Amino acid sequence: MLKHEAIEKNIGLMMIMIVLVISVGGLVQIVPLYFMHSTTEPVEGLEPYSPLRLTGRDIYVREGCYLCHSQMIRPFRAETERYGHYSLAGEFVYDRPFQWGSKRTGPDLHRVGGRYSDEWHRVHLIDPRDVVPESIMPGYPWLETTEIDNTDIARKMQVLKTLGAPYTEQQISEAKKQLEGKTEMDAVIAYLQGLGTAVKSRR
Ligand code: HEC
Repeated sequence: MLKHEAIEKNIGLMMIMIVLVISVGGLVQIVPLYFMHSTTEPVEGLEPYSPLRLTGRDIYVREGCYLCHSQMIRPFRAETERYGHYSLAGEFVYDRPFQWGSKRTGPDLHRVGGRYSDEWHRVHLIDPRDVVPESIMPGYPWLETTEIDNTDIARKMQVLKTLGAPYTEQQISEAKKQLEGKTEMDAVIAYLQGLGTAVKSRR
């Protein structure tokens, strides 16, 4: 009883105790995540990004698509009814950095793969209002006319391999060739069409 009173009357001691309690509480929640199978292992069927999709992903980041689009479906009914199965940690193990985001000016894109045709995406990305008249999304017409810069694709894959993506040497050495003659539009569409497809959506 007396000891407790000593803590309550000494703000310095009180602060130390509070930090201690919060740290332990935090560690108990966070540390197990590093060792849990469901948060560290890829979901079944998940492949590391192909050279084309990897390039598309970099263009997605370059163009700031993440500023309006999240890629994380939360486990709430309103979300799963609209977008499909909620996002699983194991779907993102090859994502560096993650594109989760929290700002949704546009819809979540995590399960947009396969929802539209390639042609729909092409028209939509050149000028969204051609397919969605009320859209406020900007157009990205230069993607269609810009060829992919493939000079550093092998290096990128090599780095991702060091970080755990299971690329083979053959995949890496053939990457540059695979991108020849492709446009940035091809890459972004390939990226979008693969999003969230490793997990079967119930929709
Ligand atoms: C200024 C905000 C903004 C930016 C930046 C933006 N979008 Fe959008 N996006 C939207 C809005 C709003 C919609 C919904 C209307 C529509 O379909 O055009 C949308 C819709 C989409 C859809 C259709 C999703 C669905 O489920 O119907 C795709 C795919 C998409 N955006 C991809 C992209 C890509 C790729 C980029 C970057 C190159 C991008 N967006 C940049 C606002 C944005």
